[in-house]
Amino acid sequence: MVFELTEEQKAVRDAARDFAQTELLPGVIERDEEQRFPAEQVKKMGELGFLGMMVDPKYNGGGMDTVSYVLAMEEISKVDASASVVMSVNNSLVCWGLEKFGTEEQKQKYLTRLATGEVIGAFCLSEPEAGSDATSQRTTAEDKGDYYLLNGTKNWITNGSSASVYLVMAQTDPEKGHKGINCLIVEKGMEGFTIGNKENKMGIRGSDTHSLMFSDVKVPKENRIGENGFGFKFAMATLNGGRIGIASQALGIASGALELAVNYSKERKAFGKPIAEHQGVSFKLADMATKVEAARMLCLKAAWLKDQGRDFSKASAMAKLYAAESAMEIATEAVQIHGGYGYVKEYHVERLMRDAKITQIYEGTSEIQKIVISRELLK
Ligand code: CAA
Repeated sequence: MVFELTEEQKAVRDAARDFAQTELLPGVIERDEEQRFPAEQVKKMGELGFLGMMVDPKYNGGGMDTVSYVLAMEEISKVDASASVVMSVNNSLVCWGLEKFGTEEQKQKYLTRLATGEVIGAFCLSEPEAGSDATSQRTTAEDKGDYYLLNGTKNWITNGSSASVYLVMAQTDPEKGHKGINCLIVEKGMEGFTIGNKENKMGIRGSDTHSLMFSDVKVPKENRIGENGFGFKFAMATLNGGRIGIASQALGIASGALELAVNYSKERKAFGKPIAEHQGVSFKLADMATKVEAARMLCLKAAWLKDQGRDFSKASAMAKLYAAESAMEIATEAVQIHGGYGYVKEYHVERLMRDAKITQIYEGTSEIQKIVISRELLK
């Protein structure tokens, strides 16, 4: 077992750290407060290759491994989880799914532009009545011969208005249950496709989350991904990888909160000495650091399994479950260590605490991860 990163992996991590510190940190508080999408920063992320990291270079991607992706996600999420969710969705849910299951024409038409960040993508599974219970899709894609007629509503869609390419799950054959679901590539601007209001969220406020409405949208047959009825399997396979991205986002939030807490507790004095020298604080820091390290190991293990072409669904669910729960705990402890300063915006930890919460909810709640893990254990 080798625990050493390669020189290339270290270089990716350092480049992401540098980008996060120089490009994302300035203005992150204001973007959060104003719910402003980090458009310029996302453009630069594309130019630096962070939006199509694992895509084959022949489709304009970076050709990197999933381990490098975890390292970059951690660094970017330490500073700006709103930017990192854009990165995670584009890399794992959109580019990966298209590269793995798309046709050559779909890859040439869409993936080549998504991988560079020229356009960004969105993954549209959740509905007003189908969040955790994802098989209960109400959006319909009626087979009309040359095209599908798409009708329905999607909710809580990350990159909802900033995306140009949308992977939309919809039911074609309700009698077949989840085996009747298809995934269709929908382009912004298609007639009948409208974008609803932006959600006013607790955290990741710089990212744009919208509902989407489809009313008699004609989607050409060639925009279906995979065989007829493959849509649910597509969504599940894609989410397995997506969970590594969100686990790494949670890891970044947790390690960012830990770093801030360590620095603050060395500087802040109370009862005649730095608070870090009080065991009440130093024991908290030790617990936080241990959890960060455990979360990192789970993320890297899941990424390594994926890179080896091995089954990683249980590993990615474990990484997501543990990292998300730890991020929430660690960010809350970081606020506690900061005391009153932790409750105001300029110390960053209150934002990390709000951002941590979503990692327990999206790409499958913590309870969904437990379903995935226990089913694997018991099968
Ligand atoms: N990997 C591969 N295949 C899977 C799978 C997984 N993790 N989970 C389920 N499947 C397959 C099953 O093997 C089954 O296939 P067969 O019929 O061939 O046997 C099929 O999918 C249906 O599965 P189940 O019978 O287990 O279906 P279920 O309804 O009992 O439960 C579930 C499935 C695991 C709960 C699933 O609905 C689920 O993962 N729900 C959560 C959905 C989710 O994560 N949504 C997030 C939205 S995207 C998002 O948040 C993006 C963003 O904005 C950041």
